[in-house]
Amino acid sequence: MGTHQLSGLFDHPIAREGTESLKYDGRLDTFGTDDVLPMWVADMDFAVPEAISQALQARASHPVFGYSMAPESLYQALIDWLLNTHDWQVKREWIVLTPGVVPSLNLVVAALTAEQAGVIVQPPVYFPFFSAVTNQHRRLIENPLRLTDDGTLAYQMDLAQLEESAKEAELLLLCSPHNPVGRVWQKDELHALLAIAEKHDLTILSDEIHADLVYTDAQHTPLSRLSLDSASTSEASHRIITAVSPSKTFNIPGLGLSALIIPNEAHRRAIQKHLQRMGVSVTNPFNLAAFEAAYRGGGEWRKALIAYLQDTRDEAIAFINKHLPAIRVICPQATYLLWLDCRELKLDDAALNRFFIEEAKLGLSPGAIFGRGGEGFMRMNIGTPKANVMAALSRLQAALAESN
Ligand SMILES: Cc1ncc(COP(=O)(O)O)c(C=O)c1O
Repeated sequence: MGTHQLSGLFDHPIAREGTESLKYDGRLDTFGTDDVLPMWVADMDFAVPEAISQALQARASHPVFGYSMAPESLYQALIDWLLNTHDWQVKREWIVLTPGVVPSLNLVVAALTAEQAGVIVQPPVYFPFFSAVTNQHRRLIENPLRLTDDGTLAYQMDLAQLEESAKEAELLLLCSPHNPVGRVWQKDELHALLAIAEKHDLTILSDEIHADLVYTDAQHTPLSRLSLDSASTSEASHRIITAVSPSKTFNIPGLGLSALIIPNEAHRRAIQKHLQRMGVSVTNPFNLAAFEAAYRGGGEWRKALIAYLQDTRDEAIAFINKHLPAIRVICPQATYLLWLDCRELKLDDAALNRFFIEEAKLGLSPGAIFGRGGEGFMRMNIGTPKANVMAALSRLQAALAESN
């Protein structure tokens, strides 16, 4: 099936209630009511590519589900994907499989830094970045993103402040592309970041889980690949660890399998040792089947998904700009997450959250959970049929009109 024929698939509504879905069946626990359109936790309401369902069905048809091991073909599928999609040549021995990107954040912090070491995060950011540091009793150092407003809102890194923070830190947790603000970091920004890391001997964990969900108006550069390209920073790849996963792009986050790309052998050994000590079984028959099938057979589906999401993004933003003047939206360059600036409503965070749940009947992620700079914002997951997104925005429009 070509990209064009695939796009119709995403309009098809799929009932997810009763599937132990956190997003749907967890509404009562999270919002205190089932009566919200759920647009929070980052999974999508779309069926996975056929290549994945076929691989899972094939595996399920064998009746023994014993301990598993990753086949070489799985590693090769990831290597081919990174080369073909990101022009990044990764060596087989650099790859360490892990049970998810959030576990990987915790693992890297624990394995590579000492107790009380400084670890930098850039809020507002995906909230497990904070707990990955505090869980391990490391010192959280914040390098908040800067929000500029010259008619349009745009986020940038505060490199001057980062230079200061780097003096007292061992590790930086980079979110690239960035959740929740949707930025795709450009090469000049990443070069500047690398220069700071070099100067202050900083290790960087680059969480690139959203790298395959980039819209056509931006281009993602793997930080580690950039460092390999650059003559002045030829050794820099040794200080970079990259987390990748097919889970967001191909909508299989419930299956839990990701990979760390670790060119530095000492880092690799420390991380593998820590993983072993935790006694965690990383692979299982289903996550292996889905992981390999995604990278091997999901390419066309991904292109169709991005086209669909980009269309949804653009229509949603046009609607907000036209009909919801009290809300400003940051146009994401990547991710299926819209970052809504609701500060004009002049509600504190508890009241803003209540307004979305009780008046608009929408279950979004409150911006405040993403840390400093997230106050007064809400994050909306648009990984759902476009009709749902537009219905949600109409609910919001009606609730805002009612509250005036
Ligand atoms: C930046 C980022 N990292 C990690 C994750 C979760 O990764 P995993 O489900 O593999 O733990 C998410 C999920 O939204 C995310 O946005």
